[in-house]
Order: sequence, then structure tokens, then C-alpha cells
Amino acid sequence: MFIAIEGIDGSGKGTHCKLLNRWVKDKGYDTFLTKEPTDGPVGKLIREALKKGELDSKTEALLFAADRSEHVKVISEKLGEGKVVITERYFFSSMAYQGASGLSLEWLREINRFAPMPDLVLLLDIPPEVAIERISTKNSLRSSVREREYFEKKEFLAKVRDIYLDLAKEYEVISIINATGSIEEVQTAVRRKVGRAISSWEEKKKKPSQKDLEEYF
Ligand code: TYD
Repeated sequence: MFIAIEGIDGSGKGTHCKLLNRWVKDKGYDTFLTKEPTDGPVGKLIREALKKGELDSKTEALLFAADRSEHVKVISEKLGEGKVVITERYFFSSMAYQGASGLSLEWLREINRFAPMPDLVLLLDIPPEVAIERISTKNSLRSSVREREYFEKKEFLAKVRDIYLDLAKEYEVISIINATGSIEEVQTAVRRKVGRAISSWEEKKKKPSQKDLEEYF
């Protein structure tokens, strides 16, 4: 069972991934909690490059895809062991962020075609103003952030959010969660969706597939 959590910066992905992971574990499942960019060599390179802001968005997109290509190997291995894999960010992040930087969604889709589709994607949706406010309080940055920087960040995250919402219309696996409420409220919504997905995963495991039936008869 493969779950991805997506959303703009400050939407609460980290918090909800951890809480969800604990909950799924407590239900008796083996889990694997992971994130992108990864801690692998390409992921590290990306973090450094993002800090310096020295790469153009096409290069960034290719690096994110390369990091993901390594990541997908680990994910497939864990899925093969029957684990519930929860990833914070996946290829939808590339489409939303690098798409917001002006790259074509078709090209981004193409270079990420190798990445298997999750069973469930939860999109933590929140207006950029609220997200920035949260990030700023967390890092007590708000007062030092210049108005212009704030405006640019808000505009960019608004574009990222719009692409995410468009993707949710296109991909059935994406469920939108209103992430403006309290941690408890949002986590309740997250668990409701995941609980349902786990039940149907269990049903599928019980039911023999068409292929099994064909082999039997
Ligand atoms: P983030 O989740 O914020 O990592 P952390 O807070 O642990 O440093 O990810 C870093 C940034 O990378 C974030 O602003 C979103 C961006 N990103 C992309 O632009 N494209 C991608 O494909 C991914 C996975 C992330």
C-alpha cells in the first residue's frame, strides 16, 4: 500500500506524515516512512543547490527525477515486503513546483513516467497566506522577511497550489484535505481517508485476482 502526502510548504506534511505513520503502525502494519528530496547523494545535491538557488528549473526538475529514480527502487522493495509506504512529497511535487516555475506539465509528466502511481495521494490544501504565516512563526522569520520577498513567495505558492488543485481533478488517486484546521482536525480527516484505503487494500488482498482465477480454472 503506497501513500503520498503532498501540499505547499507550510501545509503540515511533515507533522501529518509522522502522526499517520504512528497510527498505521499502531493498527499492526509494518510501515516505511520516507520523503523527497531524499537523504541520498542526489537528494543532498538538490538541497545544496536549492539553498544557493543556482540551478535553472529544468536542471532542478531532472535532478528531482534522478533522486526519485533512486527512491522508487527503495519504495518498490518495501512494497514488495508488504509494507505500508508513506512518502512526504512525490512526483506531483515536481509537477506543481517546477510547473509553477514555468516548465511544461507534459514534459514533467514524461520525465517522471517511470514512477509508479501511489494507491492514495492526500493533498493538504491551504491558502499560501496561511502557509507562509505558519512557516514564519515556526522560524520566527516573519518580521525579517521583506515585503517584496513575502509577496513573491505568496505568488509562487499560489501557482503551486493551483497546479495541485488541477492535478486533483485529473488524477483519481488524489484526495483533497482541507489543512487549515487544527492538527487534530486535519489528522482525523487524514486517518479517515487512509482507513478507507487500507480496508479496500485488505479486500483486494483477500479476493483472488482475475489472473489467479484464470490460472485456477
Ligand atoms: P521540503 O519538503 O520543504 O524539504 P525540507 O523542508 O525537509 O527541506 O522540500 C524542499 C523543497 O523542494 C520544497 O520547497 C519543494 C521542493 N520540491 C520541488 O520543487 N520539486 C520536487 O519534485 C520535490 C520533491 C520538492
